[in-house]
Amino acid sequence: MSKILSKPEYERWTAETRDRRMDWWRQARFGMFVHYGLFSVVGRHEWGMVQENWPIEEYEKIADQFNPKPGAPREWAKLAKAAGMKYMVMITRHHEGFSLWDSKANPYNSVNYGPHRDLVREFVDACREFDLGIGFYSTCMEWHHPDSGICAWDNEARKRYCKFLLDINTELLTNYGKIDILWYDVPAPMESWEGWDSLVRNQKLRELQPDIIINDRSRLPEDFGTPEEHVTPGDRDWEACMTFNGLSWGYVDSEQVKPYSYSAQQIIKMLNTCAANGGNLLLNIGPTPDGSVPEEAFEPLLKVGAWLKENGEAVYGKVRKGGGWGHAKFGGNGVTWASAKEGHVYLWNCIWPKDGSMAIGGYINAPKKITLLKDGTPVEFEHKGHRIILKNLPKEIPDKNAGITVFDMEFDEEPQYVFASYYPQLHGGEEFTDQKI
Ligand code: GLC
Repeated sequence: MSKILSKPEYERWTAETRDRRMDWWRQARFGMFVHYGLFSVVGRHEWGMVQENWPIEEYEKIADQFNPKPGAPREWAKLAKAAGMKYMVMITRHHEGFSLWDSKANPYNSVNYGPHRDLVREFVDACREFDLGIGFYSTCMEWHHPDSGICAWDNEARKRYCKFLLDINTELLTNYGKIDILWYDVPAPMESWEGWDSLVRNQKLRELQPDIIINDRSRLPEDFGTPEEHVTPGDRDWEACMTFNGLSWGYVDSEQVKPYSYSAQQIIKMLNTCAANGGNLLLNIGPTPDGSVPEEAFEPLLKVGAWLKENGEAVYGKVRKGGGWGHAKFGGNGVTWASAKEGHVYLWNCIWPKDGSMAIGGYINAPKKITLLKDGTPVEFEHKGHRIILKNLPKEIPDKNAGITVFDMEFDEEPQYVFASYYPQLHGGEEFTDQKI
């Protein structure tokens, strides 16, 4: 191990390598989160152990009922691929403290108990089979390790627990080949990176995996922010992590959770915010007790995948930040969102006009052409003042997957867009004329 860098040196070093390490991730846009563990057997919530105050020795018995069917991780990866997702992040050990791999540092694991299988190995193999980026979720806080509860108040316990965290994450980043993402969670009860030894641990882990990307949940900012259960652009690299239903990360009864679960259209709308603002969407599934994909996830994800096959150009790759409805840089018209790449503004329409025409305001200069992204069909339009008026649109909605049709507006020069440019009351009284932009 080379010398341990100070925090400023470490942050300078990681900043210097960030663009190279994150280039694939920034273009990937869409990933699958998988929350599977003993909590899946209970089927209420991944915080059930503490919310229901299980005595530890009682909760441990669930391990004997934990019985993932053969090939479960492959089923997840197959669906992720079909959904147009480019990477996956799997729970390797959640707050319940049960490791899903053959851990020497943590004997409480899925090889010593329950299925007697290394599910992390199966997950990694499946990701490689489907050419998906590989992410490990690794919680800081847990409720099983004897030192995890007192580590903030007992320094010897803190040192033992930090050593445990280093050991288990070293196993994960040593024994399974190239790993792309380390996804920490809940750095509690300690409230500082010093308390967690994160500066030393993360440097040691980066030595094992020099290209790895680390999220912001070990009390160090590291490589990307993690807005949770809301898709909110940040001023640095960001990935919104979302349950499939706004209720639980873990499995809950499919019949009862269906009304709360996202549709393809809602997922595509989240993807627009991500594509328009240079962020990622990490959308979760909570597999059933036997590891099956929960039925409410299949149809929406397959629909999103079919939609992305035809419209992925507006989603993946090097996007320009600052799109999305009402956003300062490029916009739509309320039922039409925007995203952008160099030379292109994409309009994502979700309510098709019945009269064959629709205006998009705020575009000061005209695109050189407008086509349907999915097949290049030319779209008739007129550029009048600061308005683009689409004309003679077909009665039928062109997009058959989700009813979200993407127009590709190609510009020869930088598109000039001012939201509601005709309305000074929205610009502090400033008037925008064709010249004054
Ligand atoms: C929160 C929850 C945890 C979940 C995580 C996913 O931290 O505590 O249960 O795994 O969000 O981002």
